[in-house]
Amino acid sequence: MIRICVAGATGWVGRSLAPAIVAAPDLELVGAVSRAARGKTLGEALGIPGLPLRVSGTVAEALVAETDVLIDYTNPEGVKANVLQAIDRKVRVVIGTSGLDDKDFAEIDEAARRHGVGVLAAGNFAISAVLLQHFAAIAARYMPSWEVIDYSDAGKPDAPSGTTREIVHRLSKVRAPEVAIPIGETQGSPEARGLTLNGTQIHSIRLPGYVIAAEVIFGKPNERLSLRYDGGSGAEPYVDGTLLAARRVGGFVGLRRGLDQVLDLV
Ligand SMILES: NC(=O)c1ccc[n+]([C@@H]2O[C@H](COP(=O)([O-])OP(=O)(O)OC[C@H]3O[C@@H](n4cnc5c(N)ncnc54)[C@H](OP(=O)(O)O)[C@@H]3O)[C@@H](O)[C@H]2O)c1
Repeated sequence: MIRICVAGATGWVGRSLAPAIVAAPDLELVGAVSRAARGKTLGEALGIPGLPLRVSGTVAEALVAETDVLIDYTNPEGVKANVLQAIDRKVRVVIGTSGLDDKDFAEIDEAARRHGVGVLAAGNFAISAVLLQHFAAIAARYMPSWEVIDYSDAGKPDAPSGTTREIVHRLSKVRAPEVAIPIGETQGSPEARGLTLNGTQIHSIRLPGYVIAAEVIFGKPNERLSLRYDGGSGAEPYVDGTLLAARRVGGFVGLRRGLDQVLDLV
């Protein structure tokens, strides 16, 4: 049995994840964290019969119970502290929360190696997003120029999305995109060319009506390729990928980014 604590158990993703863990024969839910639901049973907090586990107000409080894996689906402000606390206790971590940058990931990797535990972070655990990332890395070998459009609901607090951060991180391992006119030499407003992250231009759109989507547009003279992932309004696509990560994160030490790192996609 893999003993799991979910930080953010009452959230949009967490409320689907926690019952799925309870239902899985090889997983055990030993901790659930939410500030507002602290002290309630998880069943009361989610409005689901059963689930007698008491909700903790902090990760530190929840990890008093023997735990193998912390899954974090909280928010960009709290995630790093939660992850480092778990690593300090030699608890493996699956990070679903977005908002961490390359510097945060370097710190998490160093801590994980020092304590001999595995951490798997994915900007998007949905299989269609994982495939987009994989196909985009293949396309970047043949198409020299690309930019990314990152779409989310108006209420998403962070930009660019974790999905997009991971895509551009992965593309940077293939090569730097060719840019005809350096961004700093743009006439008018260089800001209009978007954010440069890992060498790629990113354009983040935050509008009501979107859930989450990412589009990588590759260009070459007289041809164009668009690869696009569109997430729907339910959290199911993230649950399966997250649970797979929880099962595989014991197989390595240090940080890995992207669910494809533990899948056999070749
Ligand atoms: N990687 C992926 O595939 C994927 C998929 C979907 C979403 N996400 C990301 O995952 C994160 C969560 O998304 P969501 O839509 O589920 O968010 P949400 O609905 O706002 O839920 C957040 C949850 O975290 C708890 N929480 C927030 N801050 C906390 C803190 N400091 N300590 C403990 N618990 C805290 C909230 O409860 P209280 O407020 O009561 O504490 C709630 O249970 C976001 O960053 C989102 O972008 C990633």
